Amino acid sequence: MSEATQSGSIDHVLHERRLFHPKPEFTQKAVISTVEQYQELYAAARDTPDAFWRDQANEHLHWFEPFDEVCRWEPPHANWFVGGKTNACYNAVDSHVQAGRGDKLAIIWEGEPGDTRTLTYRELQTEVAKCAEGLVELGIQQGDVVSIYMPMTPELAIAMLACARIGAVHSVIFAGFSAESIADRNNDASAKMVITSDGLNRRGNVLPLKATVDEALAKSPTVQTCLVLRRTGGDDTPMTAGRDVWWHDVIDKQPGDLAAKPLDSETPLFILYTSGSTGKPKGILHTTAGYNLWAKRTFQWVFDHREDDVYWCTADCGWITGHSYIVYGPLSAGATCVMYEGAPNHPAEDRFWELVEKYKVTILYTAPTAVRAFIKWGDHHVDKHDLSSLRLLGSVGEGINPEAWMWYHEKIGGGRCPIVDTWWQTETGGIMMSPLPGITPTKPGSCTKPLPGVVPMIVDELGNDVDTEHGGKLCIAQPWPGMLRGIWGDEQRFVEQYWTDVPGNYLTGDNARCDRDGYYWIMGRIDDVINVSGHRLSTIEVESALVSHPDVCEAAVVGRPDDLKGQAIAAFVTTTGRECNDELLKELKLHVRKQIGALAQPDDIRFTAALPKTRSGKIMRRLLRDVAAGRELAGDTSTLEDLASLAKLQEES
Ligand code: PRX
Repeated sequence: MSEATQSGSIDHVLHERRLFHPKPEFTQKAVISTVEQYQELYAAARDTPDAFWRDQANEHLHWFEPFDEVCRWEPPHANWFVGGKTNACYNAVDSHVQAGRGDKLAIIWEGEPGDTRTLTYRELQTEVAKCAEGLVELGIQQGDVVSIYMPMTPELAIAMLACARIGAVHSVIFAGFSAESIADRNNDASAKMVITSDGLNRRGNVLPLKATVDEALAKSPTVQTCLVLRRTGGDDTPMTAGRDVWWHDVIDKQPGDLAAKPLDSETPLFILYTSGSTGKPKGILHTTAGYNLWAKRTFQWVFDHREDDVYWCTADCGWITGHSYIVYGPLSAGATCVMYEGAPNHPAEDRFWELVEKYKVTILYTAPTAVRAFIKWGDHHVDKHDLSSLRLLGSVGEGINPEAWMWYHEKIGGGRCPIVDTWWQTETGGIMMSPLPGITPTKPGSCTKPLPGVVPMIVDELGNDVDTEHGGKLCIAQPWPGMLRGIWGDEQRFVEQYWTDVPGNYLTGDNARCDRDGYYWIMGRIDDVINVSGHRLSTIEVESALVSHPDVCEAAVVGRPDDLKGQAIAAFVTTTGRECNDELLKELKLHVRKQIGALAQPDDIRFTAALPKTRSGKIMRRLLRDVAAGRELAGDTSTLEDLASLAKLQEES
């Protein structure tokens, strides 16, 4: 075990030694196929960023008017591709039609009930133009904010792209949020319109989306129009005269020939609200050219995209992953994307594998929380299907525990597919660190190395660089095109949250460590560190040790106050089915002790049926800290998926 020799650096206790090399068959055809190629790109982006990004932008985006300055960096404000005019919708849709690839499939969509629809790039162009024309008819102009609260239908992507086409700013709100959350977001952004649907299919039930929106609109004075897609049918959708209009009445009749508007590079593209650890959600702002370029290039590098790939990202467009890796990245790269509306376990727990087999998916991008659910549901669901079309797997959203990584690799990837564990954030716009699947040997649990243009830095409490193998705060030392441009309407919070702690550098809010091979290991959020007897431990290492026990499915670890040690370690554990008794409890404590040492042995272990998670699947350790300490729950719970799991834990306290 390493000693904490630096000011507040974090001890690293989990030792993962497995290494998986890319297979030569994969490397031969890869977009980046030699280490030297990566090193050259990396050095060029770091040492001569202006020249590097000038070439990238000229080659990979369409310019109605050329830019005359690559990056104007006045910390913490960056302007990229100053003076140029482009359009993210044009780059994602029209450019392919223009290049003679209009007949290629852009979207293969499947609804939860099993209905399907495909759209070629040409068809998508017409649909997007019609929607844009409808928005204009309804009074939407450049700069207006449009909230989108919709199920995962093609119209969700179409609505986003239609906003981009005319320079309106979309704010997608995940369709699981409450009326209160919608109203907060509408008001914070002064949204002028909400686009929604009558209902949403979820595990065979219909959720009345429009009714929720109505409740929100009663408290959203800036919203003038509500555009409603008929998705689930039924006659009982409440429509308010003068405010609400049906999609089929307004959009379907449009000619579909409105061209994409040339927009300044820094035109706001979207706002996406993300929860802070406390307080009200932040509207993260991304703008047009830099974001678009970052989403496209990172997609091509990380997913090794080839012309005949069938790519499926299982995220929802309500999250940044859906923005960057369902819509703007893959479509700008001309990919064929599978889009699925529903739950992974409807009608049965093999739905994802059925879809992979049916559409011959070659690249699958999903989240650790889903992988852990698949493990819990059992291998027999996977075994029913032919997954041999898969060639590459991706993971995003949280650290993937090494044992879940191994299962994903072996059971889903058949041992042949590289895994790209992609580290990034809503704020970064796109992937920042990830293996490049043709060249990077992977270590389970590590997001490996930074992409070209990403210059990471790890510092201790005083802002000094920490040594190799020591954990500290992860910062980014150079501006990159996809970086957030601000928090909507809150300059002060933007500066304080990201740019004050380590001046001039972007503070990610995550802890990380870099190992001797230059591989990065994300150690969780800065707030999640536990301090046991003066040793600062990262939660994810203790969690990964617990998950490596065959009877543990998921684990969340938090600190609770302890008179003697400063903090004691409290673990919350879900099992794969074994009886939760004292014997298992003792076994788990010993298991952690054996895996990483006595210091990391949990003081309390509590079994639970489910862990409280955000709606995007992240474990909410902040709330578990309150439960572990026997405190009243504090802060914002609006992003919590399953309040019941938390209430139950509290009752048992
Ligand atoms: O803590 C990191 C974790 O998720 C945070 C970003 O969350 P969000 O803005 O919702 O974006 C999620 C989709 C990119 C990060 O600060 N995180 C995300 N990916 C990983 C991760 N932690 C470890 N490994 C990852 N691959």
